[in-house]
Amino acid sequence: MKDISVTTGFSRLDKEQKIELVSSHLSDPAKFSETLQASWHRDPEVQKKIDEFSENTLGNYFLPYGVAPNFLINGKMYMVPMVTEESSVVAAASAAAKFWAERGGFHSEILGIEKIGQVHFTWNGGFDLLNRFFPEIRSQMITNTERIASNMVKRGGGIIDIHLVDMTDKIADYYQINATFDTRDSMGANFINSCLEEFAVTLRDCVSGSVELSANNLQVIMSILSNYTPNCLVRTWVEGEIKDNGHYYDDLYSDREFVNRFETGVRIAQVDRYRATTHNKGIYNGIDAVVLATGNDFRAVEACGHAFASRNGIYSSLSKVEISGNIFHFSLEIPMALGTVGGLTHLHPLAKQSLQLLGDPDASQLMMIASAAGLANNYSAVKSLVTKGIQKGHMKMHLLNILNVYMATNVEKKLAAEYFKHEKVSHSAVNSFLETIRNKNK
Ligand code: MEV
Repeated sequence: MKDISVTTGFSRLDKEQKIELVSSHLSDPAKFSETLQASWHRDPEVQKKIDEFSENTLGNYFLPYGVAPNFLINGKMYMVPMVTEESSVVAAASAAAKFWAERGGFHSEILGIEKIGQVHFTWNGGFDLLNRFFPEIRSQMITNTERIASNMVKRGGGIIDIHLVDMTDKIADYYQINATFDTRDSMGANFINSCLEEFAVTLRDCVSGSVELSANNLQVIMSILSNYTPNCLVRTWVEGEIKDNGHYYDDLYSDREFVNRFETGVRIAQVDRYRATTHNKGIYNGIDAVVLATGNDFRAVEACGHAFASRNGIYSSLSKVEISGNIFHFSLEIPMALGTVGGLTHLHPLAKQSLQLLGDPDASQLMMIASAAGLANNYSAVKSLVTKGIQKGHMKMHLLNILNVYMATNVEKKLAAEYFKHEKVSHSAVNSFLETIRNKNK
């Protein structure tokens, strides 16, 4: 890698010029350019669309697109598309989906679909004065956003509420307009942000146009949706019987031992933030994979979930276990703002196919499906952790990646798969296994 100085006018170059310029910073420019070109879609029209998703696109970055079958959710069977680079995620989701499909499947309900946006501003005229005028300002805001909201209203959504919030106990003169929205099947970011910017203009106009208000200083600081949507919430759960000497869940532990160990495992993630972070990461292994496969915004979904996980002042597990009598109940309550129209959902060729594979769900159904994938991954991870440990399964799945690092041939991969059925997988073990068979064949 050579030194890179400040580049100007980069975005105005065409794609070939950009690749040439970037390549010139690498020790093997031809290889870089060749690798990028090999990643292009064979249909130039499709590639052009992909290029336009972002700025300065040079090529496509591959991630595996897989499917986890046997997801029975509210009585309907789904094959769930998942995009992830982590080798064990799809396998873990599939195993849990199959296990629970034979036991009634996942149950899921939507607890709310409300999205939130805020106008943040400072005002030195005090809360009471502004609040007295706020009903008028609010109705002006509704009138001024009628055009922006008309399509959303036709689809049954729109602005739900707008209210003024006094934040002066946190920052002097700081207030918010907090608005809630129903964006139906779209994620709604552009709709919400457009409404908020219009609210800000209206607020400014109302203040400057009023004799009583205009004597005070108003400064709109910013207008932006919040990715924290605690009332855009889905609850998903599985339920299983505990048979006193049964081995319904695990070969080694009896049902009672298993569910007690599992419950303790989850409780640890409720009280310890180190464990909670990893536990919730396991949930997002499943959720992100579905969110990505359907062209949704996984950063928004993750940020929201982690904020929700700390809503009680300590970062904690998003899932919980309840054992009552002989019933094991494992559930996940999680907020997520997803869309099945707009954004990339129908522009990205595979996102569109993913939605078709899921039977063209609406946003609420997609929330249920993604959360079921999260709960499935969480179940598989905690189950492994409290029984045989995680590494056995993980490293088995990782074996192919390690073999690829050592350029194993197909024959070597077959031999390795057989050998490592009974051996612990590690980089050094795979390396020495390959050395041994390669030496033998010299
Ligand atoms: C690995 O990607 C995810 C796990 O660490 C989750 C967990 O520990 O619960 C296995």
